Amino acid sequence: MSTGWFVRRMLGYRPWLYAVDGIAWIGVYGSRLLPGLAAKYAFDALARPGGTPPVLWLAALFIGVGITQAAIYTVGLLVDVLYRFSLSAVLQRNLLAEILRRPGARALDRTPGAALTVFRDDVGIAENGVDQILDMVFYVIVATGALAILISVNATIAVFVFVPLVGVIAVAQATTARIRAARVASQNATGRVTSALSEIFGSVQAVQIARAEHGIVDHFRELGEMRRRAVLREQRVMLLAQPIQLNTVNLGTGLILLLGAGAMREGSFTVGDFALFVSYLGFVTEGTGFLGFFITQYKQLGVSVHRMLALIGAGDDGARASALVAPSALDLRGEERTAASLLPTAEPLRRLEVARLSYSYGGDRAALQDASFELESGAFTVVTGRVGAGKTTLLRVLLGLLPGSGAIRWNGRPVDDPPSFMVPPRCAYVPQVPRLFSATLRDNILMGADAEALLSDALHAAALEEDVRTFEHGLDTPIGSRGVRLSGGQVQRTAAARAFVRRPELLAVDDLSSALDVETERVLWNRLLEDPHRLTVLAVSHRRPALRRADRIIVLKEGRLEAEGSLDELLSTCEEMRRLWEHEAVTR
Ligand SMILES: Nc1ncnc2c1ncn2[C@@H]1O[C@H](COP(=O)(O)OP(=O)(O)O)[C@@H](O)[C@H]1O
Ligand SMILES: [Mg+2]
Repeated sequence: MSTGWFVRRMLGYRPWLYAVDGIAWIGVYGSRLLPGLAAKYAFDALARPGGTPPVLWLAALFIGVGITQAAIYTVGLLVDVLYRFSLSAVLQRNLLAEILRRPGARALDRTPGAALTVFRDDVGIAENGVDQILDMVFYVIVATGALAILISVNATIAVFVFVPLVGVIAVAQATTARIRAARVASQNATGRVTSALSEIFGSVQAVQIARAEHGIVDHFRELGEMRRRAVLREQRVMLLAQPIQLNTVNLGTGLILLLGAGAMREGSFTVGDFALFVSYLGFVTEGTGFLGFFITQYKQLGVSVHRMLALIGAGDDGARASALVAPSALDLRGEERTAASLLPTAEPLRRLEVARLSYSYGGDRAALQDASFELESGAFTVVTGRVGAGKTTLLRVLLGLLPGSGAIRWNGRPVDDPPSFMVPPRCAYVPQVPRLFSATLRDNILMGADAEALLSDALHAAALEEDVRTFEHGLDTPIGSRGVRLSGGQVQRTAAARAFVRRPELLAVDDLSSALDVETERVLWNRLLEDPHRLTVLAVSHRRPALRRADRIIVLKEGRLEAEGSLDELLSTCEEMRRLWEHEAVTR
């Protein structure tokens, strides 16, 4: 997807706003020609022998020009801000929508920080790039007009002043590429220093245990030294280039004085003409700098477009890429959407049929291959198997968090879109590594659900009541990085309470053994299975209390369904099951 494609599509977004913005900016640039014309008129009038114009009248002329210019700028800026905002808002909206459409377990292929950079920096560059094309076009039109006025006043001086200046500016422009490269290098060096800092602070214990203090400090010193060199280089390049860029207007004024003096003596160049030339000098020479700036911006825009497309995994796929530039509605003034009530409203689950569920992460062997099974209403089904057998993958494909193949039928009806269907109040999921927010315990469990009345039951079922009682502020205790640090088990049970409070028809629970001891896991299963409105549960576990209570066990081996049945059946018929059962006795 080319930069031109992107620009064309973005210009097609809100074309009326684009047109108004264009007209406003012709006005803005055009109004910059007024003071020069007013100055020419005033000086010529003052220099004319005989009648001196009233000073008040001249003052009014300048004030009028100033007010007109201010008014046009105000309108231009307001329209421009609105236009720019719409551009970046629609890009950010489309990026987010595309990320949300991706499978939940693989929504991002990078860290959240890196993704946010695209939302902030690349969208900003795209906004600038598209808007600047407009600026550039109208600038060139008005600058040509200004040059035409100057040539009509005195063609010789105009040519002899502007041709050398364009040369000077072109040289100055050539250095901007070096400035930019030096700036990128120094920013990268700074980035390495800050990320090293945060990593070091995040792993103080690991450093101490390994007695690696000296090594770490040396490493940090090295990064600091690299940064020092990069920043110095940036400063040096800038200090060399800046004087040329800052002094072009002075150079130009000197040239006008040199050439103008002779012409004035001959009477072919008035003081007013001189004022006009000096006034337009900055405006016309700026254009060359503007052009160079625009060319680098356009190249940068290409990189940013590429990065935005990469974030949504579009690459050269035209249809996916179009999603980035789709003219989506922004809903800026719409009513706030309230959280939907999550009280049980789903059609009760009678039977869930799963056929040939498969998924591959791209390795030699599929992580899950042709798993078929059924879940009856109210049954407790345990999925077991060795590490890497495909248990987590099975849950995730079933819940639509990974885009696998196969068929799912809910009460006999095919589930066409698992990601949107297998959610509360139909399904809830307790993942192996749950994520909690920096918020109160209550907010972490409810997460916007209107289910306050179900909280105490959920806390009981998740075996979390005792813990809550020990917290100073109970359910209103803040947790996370700025609050109470929960233990791994507490995090896991909070996630369980979050799932229970949604009263799902089907509860999927991944391996709890890394965070909960056997006894706590046993209590959790007991409470869940003794609940009067008993849920249908699909749980990954290798522990004996779970296996003993299971109505049915599914044994996975190397991504395939090895066997299924009751514990007794499997212990007598399935070698893999016997191995898992014995192993569990030893490690316990
Ligand atoms: N994100 C991933 N990328 C690549 N391979 C993966 C990923 N997650 C799991 N796998 C592989 O898929 C297989 C099944 O993994 P998983 O479902 O996590 O097993 P289990 O939960 O039974 O331990 C393993 O071989 C594992 O290495
Ligand atoms: Mg797992």
